[in-house]
Amino acid sequence: MDCPFLTDDAVAALVVAVAPPLEEEDGLQPRAGTVDATARYGIDLAELADRSGGTSFRGVAGQVATVDLPRTHTGSTYRLPWAGLPSTIVLLGIGSGTDVELRRAGAALAGATRGLERVVSAATADATEAGVRAFVEGYLLAAYRIPRFGRPAAARSGEGPVQDSQAEQLVLLGESHETQLEAARVAATATWLVRDLANTPSNVKDPEWVAEQASALAGAAGLTVEVLGPKELAAQGFGALLAVGAASASPPRLVTVTYEPEAAERHVVLVGKGITYDTGGLSIKPREAMVPMKTDMAGAAVALAAVLGAAESGVRHKVTAVLPLAENHVGADSYRPGDVLRTYSGTTVEIANTDAEGRLVLADALGYAVATLAPDLLVDVATLTGAAGVGLGRGHAALFATNPGLVSGFEAAAAVTGERVWHMPLVEDYTSALRSDVADLRHVPLEARGGGAITAALFLREFTDGLPWVHLDIAGPARATASRHEVTEGATGYGARLLLQFLRDLD
Ligand code: BES
Ligand code: MN
Ligand code: ZN
Repeated sequence: MDCPFLTDDAVAALVVAVAPPLEEEDGLQPRAGTVDATARYGIDLAELADRSGGTSFRGVAGQVATVDLPRTHTGSTYRLPWAGLPSTIVLLGIGSGTDVELRRAGAALAGATRGLERVVSAATADATEAGVRAFVEGYLLAAYRIPRFGRPAAARSGEGPVQDSQAEQLVLLGESHETQLEAARVAATATWLVRDLANTPSNVKDPEWVAEQASALAGAAGLTVEVLGPKELAAQGFGALLAVGAASASPPRLVTVTYEPEAAERHVVLVGKGITYDTGGLSIKPREAMVPMKTDMAGAAVALAAVLGAAESGVRHKVTAVLPLAENHVGADSYRPGDVLRTYSGTTVEIANTDAEGRLVLADALGYAVATLAPDLLVDVATLTGAAGVGLGRGHAALFATNPGLVSGFEAAAAVTGERVWHMPLVEDYTSALRSDVADLRHVPLEARGGGAITAALFLREFTDGLPWVHLDIAGPARATASRHEVTEGATGYGARLLLQFLRDLD
């Protein structure tokens, strides 16, 4: 191994990998860089970690021990064995070195080296290409900081994004995996964008504001953008989107962003739920449930980030993101339980609960996509039901799909990005719950019988015109109450990397 390693730069840290002992009484196992560094430094690093990392440092992925070596005082003629080498050594636990563990190790490294100017890592010197990507992605994801004043990436430029500057500090030793590094950078950028948008408070983030952000970002990337305002929406029959947004002082928008490469093979339309705040409407939420609802546009942010990422990484397919944006508020113009709405497709819907607004705005957007965009595949992403979070927790999104190939496509993408999905059934018997006496459909079952994520999915299916379709309910993983590994507190950005990976791998 040669020598970005050799440096006089006092702020540089050298990162080497260790794994847990094989037997309880053994020491930590040296991994990439540790043996080399031990030889160069002339000290037993694994043994030092054992002592200085304390009993809790076992080399498990996500654990870090930092060793600061002393320097001689100025004027001393004594030469330490590590003179000229970085005086900070980071011993990074990588466990058995799987991709998941390397992603965690990367994330832990970002936390341990925050503020350092230069970090030289040998920890992935013998990892696979996928392992290197996972490591760098974990590092970049964990480097994220919530913007202080709710400014999105687009507006952060003056000061330079925190995460970008930390991205520049990391130097990897070993084979250079340019393609993997680029994939990690694009994927992390997509996730950061979703986090920035979803973390922005709703007094800043109304439908118009989100539409402006989307236009600015898509315009800068050379993509086509179309924004429909309230007048156009009314003229074109978006009855559901307009009803949901009717009580808000900030009226709805529908944004369409298109990426079309030459000789595109397929057309994938991504539809993202964009509720900029969900009070529940007249069926109002209690305070506890309302507080996190600024993130109820995470689906729209994911769809936007995915189309931008697809363009940046040269996906072969045409990709269109459709973002129905509205604020579900309370007011004299509120839509009511018992109202009958006419959706874009002409299907009428009897309102049962104004808090089930997501499926309504998605119904209009799906209907619009089917009628005007000629998709080969529809994918919707939404923080749709509390039920999905109750059933699966924060670790998995609920995945519904019309065919097994789509399920395995998403499962394969999830295995690459670590954003886990769980395949859910579209239970045919439950469609009877969507029957209404006064409209084509009732939008929420009359009696609560459980299966809320499933009945929501069945409702959406009515607007897909029998096309291949994937529905991702991200109500669980879209937010986190505490940072853990690569997942950061607040909006997690879940789904952006998943969708991007799916699009990259789609035949
Ligand atoms: N945005 C919520 C779903 C949600 C809940 C997301 C918790 C994240 C965390 C959605 O609009 C909603 O209110 N759904 C209702 C549907 C019900 C009225 C049929 C729900 O899940 O309670
Ligand atoms: Mn709601
Ligand atoms: Zn909602």
